[in-house]
Amino acid sequence: MSVHENEQAVAVAVLGLGEMGSALAVALLDAGYPVTVWNRSEDKVHQLVAKGARPAATPEAAVAAAEVVIVNVKGGAVAAEVLRTAASALPGRTVVDLTDGSSEQSRATGQLVTTHGADYLHGQIMTIAPAVGSPDAVVFYGGLRDVFDRHEALLRSLGGRATHVSDDPGVAVLYGMAVHDIMWGLLNGFLHAAALLGNAGIRVGDFQQVAQPSLTALSSLFPMLAGEIDRAEFATPYGALVHHLPSLDDLIAESRVRGIDVDLPTYTRKLVAAALDAGHGHDSYSRLVEHFRRG
Ligand SMILES: NC(=O)c1ccc[n+]([C@@H]2O[C@H](COP(=O)([O-])OP(=O)(O)OC[C@H]3O[C@@H](n4cnc5c(N)ncnc54)[C@H](OP(=O)(O)O)[C@@H]3O)[C@@H](O)[C@H]2O)c1
Repeated sequence: MSVHENEQAVAVAVLGLGEMGSALAVALLDAGYPVTVWNRSEDKVHQLVAKGARPAATPEAAVAAAEVVIVNVKGGAVAAEVLRTAASALPGRTVVDLTDGSSEQSRATGQLVTTHGADYLHGQIMTIAPAVGSPDAVVFYGGLRDVFDRHEALLRSLGGRATHVSDDPGVAVLYGMAVHDIMWGLLNGFLHAAALLGNAGIRVGDFQQVAQPSLTALSSLFPMLAGEIDRAEFATPYGALVHHLPSLDDLIAESRVRGIDVDLPTYTRKLVAAALDAGHGHDSYSRLVEHFRRG
């Protein structure tokens, strides 16, 4: 999205020009925003200046030149430290913190920023750098709704699927973490399966092409699982936990015979067996959420 002809271009500062910060700065320049950049090491600043950005010698100078301040550095603690050094220039600005960290760090940075008279949004970027600025790029935002609304056009230039999820910046962090949590579970399952298939001399790509409809169907389970968990209603007429146990035993035995690591399916079997022992054999797989709640 480019800045609308009638819309006065908002001056933006980008603090941090690593892989992601540089992509954010380029997307803003492409969208027609005037961009001032700062980075700890100067070499990356030169690359952005060559693309039309203005350099700033300090975070404070960059913030002073902008209405909206994007922060994208390595970790929540560094983001807070960079903003602290720019504190005197913060009043009246909007800080959009796109740095990953914990929900608590994000709330603390929000507190630091608002205490110095600026507005604060935390955005959780759910894409890799080359996709920044594309219409499909997802970013979850937390912070006051009216601050998001005021800067929505600019935020959409970073990712077309910019979505406000909560007035609490920590909730955006948790949304991002939840997606990663699910991603690692799915990826580990895929890689375990790949090892098993590879051991049997099967090309993973051949399997994937044939099995793709089944793999795609897995994501269509999420609305059903989410509803069961939110309602705490786990009874199901189909695919109950009791039916998972024999399949897990088969997978563990096959893996063992082939010399494939059995930790992952053994862990899953342990959860299913415990639920059966507790009398939940005829419940949906979503019943296992209770195991994770106990920690
Ligand atoms: N890369 C991605 O695809 C991606 C995707 C989603 C989210 N993110 C998030 O975006 C953030 C940045 O990631 P990245 O991939 O761009 O990392 P990166 O390429 O390693 O860049 C890190 C940035 O942080 C700066 N930095 C590190 N320590 C600093 C310090 N003590 N003081 C000041 N600046 C410091 C670096 O400055 P120097 O150049 O001087 O080292 C650099 O600008 C992270 O929170 C990451 O999780 C990245």
